[in-house]
Amino acid sequence: KKVVLAYSGGLDTSVILKWLEVEYGCEVVTFTADLGQGEELEPARRKAERAGVKEIYIEDLREEFVRDFVFPMFRANAVYEGLYLLGTSIARPLIAKRLVEIARKTGADAVAHGATGKGNDQIRFELNAYALNPDIRVIAPWREWDLNSREKLIAFAEKYQIEIPKDKRGEAPFSVDANLLHTSSEGKVLEDPADEAPDYVYQRTVDPEDAPDKAETIEIGFERGDAVSINGEMLSPAALLTKLNDYGRKHGVGRLDLVENRFVGMKSRGIYETPGGTILLAAHRGIEQITLDRGAGHLKDELMPRYAELIYNGFWFAPEREMLQAAIDKSQEHVSGTVRVKLYKGSANVVGRSSPNTIYSLAHVTFEEDAVYDQKDAEGFIKLNALRLKLLARRNAQTR
Ligand code: ARG
Ligand code: SIN
Repeated sequence: KKVVLAYSGGLDTSVILKWLEVEYGCEVVTFTADLGQGEELEPARRKAERAGVKEIYIEDLREEFVRDFVFPMFRANAVYEGLYLLGTSIARPLIAKRLVEIARKTGADAVAHGATGKGNDQIRFELNAYALNPDIRVIAPWREWDLNSREKLIAFAEKYQIEIPKDKRGEAPFSVDANLLHTSSEGKVLEDPADEAPDYVYQRTVDPEDAPDKAETIEIGFERGDAVSINGEMLSPAALLTKLNDYGRKHGVGRLDLVENRFVGMKSRGIYETPGGTILLAAHRGIEQITLDRGAGHLKDELMPRYAELIYNGFWFAPEREMLQAAIDKSQEHVSGTVRVKLYKGSANVVGRSSPNTIYSLAHVTFEEDAVYDQKDAEGFIKLNALRLKLLARRNAQTR
């Protein structure tokens, strides 16, 4: 019996590691990924070794994460419930995928994760894992064990000589999930949605009030819907997002305080910081403005909430997400060019866009006399569109 555990090296997953050995008597393979969460991975290796783990997988997945998950999602301008840029949601399918792949490689029959039984993440890990391997077993210790209080968890850690970081002895002030796209904070001091989040919750953006008084404009280059350069410098997907994060941090871009609907039915309040992603979304919409046809653009916008909900609910590897992706990707064929975005005290505003594929027509739009548009055509266009409105208005006047 062997299980692959998504292991961060933190207290919770260290306890899970031991618990799996004690409770299931199984051998544990650890998997630790660098998704750009900004934590060293070597401590996780050291801790896994010290815990006697024989097969330790540590992987830098930053490029794959941005190239194959974040960028496809941004082609859709995906936003959940109008505001959330899905930073946690989009990382889960990749982790699930690697868990399943490592299980196959190491001959493990199960995977395990440290998500609670109350949240979205358990659903995302598990639906995506089952979609990739219908026979995989999933162990979710938080749904099974009785270590539900901090005291019990600490007591278990002490019993098995698991290293307890000083700041983890007391109650954690809130729960954090981070990767290259975002940092999310939930729980504890953030639970009452009436109370403003304390300053110390924000970890990767300066307070917009403290951001530079001088605006900064950057130019982002796009090819087929994906960002490829900043100020003329070609960058890999992860390098590009890292750089946008730096700009966003400096100018306080991408903070969000949101109450959202979890898939399990409850509402939850979260603080999000998505500095680079917020800039990227604005820029991508900017380039679409001049390269996308209205019909394609409006249809895309109608599909977007469905697409975003699929990602939020854990259906990345489901056929309907893939169908929508194919449609979205098709729409991006001509979405190339450059966008200038001005960053200033928390805002990221598009101030210019240009593209070799533009369908913006200066010749048509000018208020000066032109040779390409006959204003008289508009008369009949309005008349026929008005026809049913007039018939209705007459009927309504008679039957009132
Ligand atoms: N509510 C967000 C989501 O479902 C984030 C969940 C994880 N965040 C955390 N701080 N534990 O995508
Ligand atoms: C968790 O419960 O593990 C984190 C929050 C969530 O998944 O929504």
